[in-house]
Amino acid sequence: MSLPFFEINGGNRLRGTVRISGAKNAALPIMAASILCEGEVVLRDIPRVADVESLCELLQKLGVETTWIEDNALRLIVRDEMNCKAEYDIVRKMRASICVLGPLIAKRQKAQVSMPGGCAIGDRPVNLHLRAMERLGADLDLVGGDIVARAKKLVGTEMFLGGRFGSTVLGTANAMMAAALADGVTVIEMAACEPEVADLANFLNQCGASISGQGTPRIIVEGVKELHGCEYRIIPDRIEAGTFMVAAALTNGDLKIENVRLDHLMAFVDCLSGVGVHVEKTTLGAEVTSSRRLEPVEVTTQPFPGFPTDLQAQLMTLLCLADGNSVITDKIFPDRFMHVPELARMGAQLRREGGTVIIEGVKRLIGAPVMASDLRASAALVLAGLVARGTTRVNRIYHLARGYERMDEKLRAVGGDIQLHPEGGV
Ligand code: EPZ
Repeated sequence: MSLPFFEINGGNRLRGTVRISGAKNAALPIMAASILCEGEVVLRDIPRVADVESLCELLQKLGVETTWIEDNALRLIVRDEMNCKAEYDIVRKMRASICVLGPLIAKRQKAQVSMPGGCAIGDRPVNLHLRAMERLGADLDLVGGDIVARAKKLVGTEMFLGGRFGSTVLGTANAMMAAALADGVTVIEMAACEPEVADLANFLNQCGASISGQGTPRIIVEGVKELHGCEYRIIPDRIEAGTFMVAAALTNGDLKIENVRLDHLMAFVDCLSGVGVHVEKTTLGAEVTSSRRLEPVEVTTQPFPGFPTDLQAQLMTLLCLADGNSVITDKIFPDRFMHVPELARMGAQLRREGGTVIIEGVKRLIGAPVMASDLRASAALVLAGLVARGTTRVNRIYHLARGYERMDEKLRAVGGDIQLHPEGGV
């Protein structure tokens, strides 16, 4: 079966204005939270990406009616609470499906969610999610690869959600959503501070929840009897914004980026300034330019507000062309390096040592056929194609479609020479 691919001719300097979509990683848990609500939920700035469509499919199977009422506006309303099973075939394709666990237990007193498998970026354990549910009083069993959870009524409690890699984004989301309808107060220690977690808390509060401390490592949830629906606009996608910042820097272009919150990207922008990339705040977002000579840097990914693991691959592409040796360490997903051998095919000089990659800057990258493997590695390969000499063919771009809305269109609109071929890829 021949697959779609991108064909990219490198060398164009990107200039113009690009508008960033709503954040996929805010949309997914907020969509799942609709399970908790009595009445209609309308979400705005929802990106039309594959992961959102997959979650719509899962929510429909769980009795939630989902309807696109405008291009990026989604209406969700619970019609039937009978089915509480999230099937393996959906969960294995999208790990984020795990975020229906908390809402199902809290609202329907039961949940059967397939254990998500691993994925291209490494192990994806859910032990912290299960710890949170047990601390709230749920009985959990593992039956045929499924988590089977039951709870007459969840009871507020204290919990510590730190694991060996630090905090957990979706684990904190599940804990907050479950605690929202629990009896009493829940305190989540070492909660994730990501903006997407704060966005979920703000959404839940708009539905009548009582959550405070979001954005800090200590979140307090006072359980309420019920949650009503609401209309809510989600935050911009900081990872998409960071990806386009790298595109501007790589091509020595000048991009105006609209709908970006620079306070969500402090560590990343700080790193870019060390490389020699200028990110200037504007009334509508930011303007990005760079000096021709890129400086090498050393970076380690951390939970927010540290350097985001979701921008590790994109930064690596940029550092391939820096004037000297850089070092990137991914402390969150130490195996998140599927882009390394593909970038090497384009002439990058990279050496992996466990969870660290040493990047020896080269004068140029050379276009080649490459293979996408996970969402952010795919973005890194598209970025490399934009600056490489000659033509790059990025195969398996369905990975990219999971989290980037109309990426080729947005790049073409600012001068990128990128074409989507519907078939002929491998
Ligand atoms: C979210 O995944 C994001 N996905 C990921 O983005 C992102 O990379 C990740 O957070 C880290 O920022 C969504 O929001 C849909 P974690 P999540 O639980 O919540 C370990 C993308 O490209 N861990 O914060 O699944 C885990 O193995 C995606 O958009 C446990 O040990 O990540 C990892 O090493 C990829 N036990 C670390 O914690 C657990 O129970 C952080 O994972 C849970 C996680």
